Amino acid sequence: MADLKHIRVAVNGYGVIGKRVAGAVALQKDMSLAGVSDVVTDWRARMVIRNGLRLFGATEEHANTMHKAGLDAAGTLDNLLDQADVVVDCTPKRIAAKNVDTYRQRGIKFILQGGEKHAATGHSFVAESNYASALGRDATRVVSCNTTSIVRTLTALKRAGLLQRARGTLLRRATDPWESHESGIMNTLVPEPEIPSHQGPDAQSVDPDLDVVTMAVKVPETLAHLHYWSVQMTRPASKEEVLDTFRTSSRIALINIGDGLVALNTVKELMADRGRPHDNLYEVALWADMLRVQEDELFYAYMVDNQAIVIPETIDAIRALTRTVEDANASIARTNASLGIEARLV
Ligand SMILES: NC(=O)c1ccc[n+]([C@@H]2O[C@H](COP(=O)([O-])OP(=O)(O)OC[C@H]3O[C@@H](n4cnc5c(N)ncnc54)[C@H](O)[C@@H]3O)[C@@H](O)[C@H]2O)c1
Repeated sequence: MADLKHIRVAVNGYGVIGKRVAGAVALQKDMSLAGVSDVVTDWRARMVIRNGLRLFGATEEHANTMHKAGLDAAGTLDNLLDQADVVVDCTPKRIAAKNVDTYRQRGIKFILQGGEKHAATGHSFVAESNYASALGRDATRVVSCNTTSIVRTLTALKRAGLLQRARGTLLRRATDPWESHESGIMNTLVPEPEIPSHQGPDAQSVDPDLDVVTMAVKVPETLAHLHYWSVQMTRPASKEEVLDTFRTSSRIALINIGDGLVALNTVKELMADRGRPHDNLYEVALWADMLRVQEDELFYAYMVDNQAIVIPETIDAIRALTRTVEDANASIARTNASLGIEARLV
């Protein structure tokens, strides 16, 4: 392994998550992007080259097809892994799990995304909750977008000694915008077949102490997810105390309906106006003026940009696995500064 003051990162799969991870890695002073690997030869692969990144084929066959399509592929995934200290696998659900043996045999550290099961790495990651337990490990899984938001918010309440149990209803976007010509739903709502939906148990793979139950429904839009939560607190608390508690997380942004941020689209527009790449909202955007406390019960709602929320977590996971930054808060601060994550969105 090379000098780990400078971490060489490979990204396998340059889709919704992979391209955002690659962009974020390129912004880190302590990391460099060794290249990205994929299987496609259309506009998506051309954008890799256009963005000045090194493109690799997942296999020899894919690299050859890329050459035939006029794409200057620098080699295969194998070649890319030779030039990296960590690989972030952002291939679609269930494909990444098949790459695990390859990564283990080569002894390269690897990060999977939330489409894979906890068992594939034996560790599930959210920076503000369990950075320390990922230090020096061979692998971790950055949990899904919804699970990341649940762990961030409930960890803040838990740290303040306010959390007894939490029950949430999730309205999930139907598909990602770029592929909405292919899938998604229209003119209906599709409940997840089971209660609890998988996100609550998944949050417990990060923090087994969380008493959390989730229910979920797929809704016909592509912008982001919306969560509604009802929390039993350990004691009565004031609204201001709860808001201060959420303010202790640098990745929860308090927003207000009174500021005109009345819906998912208005928050996305704000991110566009801020010049964030892909209009990324990395934070959990939680409505402060809507939040309500009744004695020891708490009610709130927030927005989760499914395409963006896991990006800062992935950057922190790279530092934790390579053990280049021991302290969670130090890594989080570095990542936040590089991505423009601040206490206030507006
Ligand atoms: N999209 C989201 O909102 C979201 C949010 C959080 C986590 N995740 C998770 O992130 C992971 C990636 O999801 P995504 O939405 O970015 O998928 P995606 O379909 O947008 O991108 C996957 C990319 O991998 C490429 N690919 C396919 N097979 C490959 C192979 N064998 N080798 C190399 N590249 C290959 C595809 O061409 C594509 O570019 C999944 O585990 C998913 O569950 C997705």
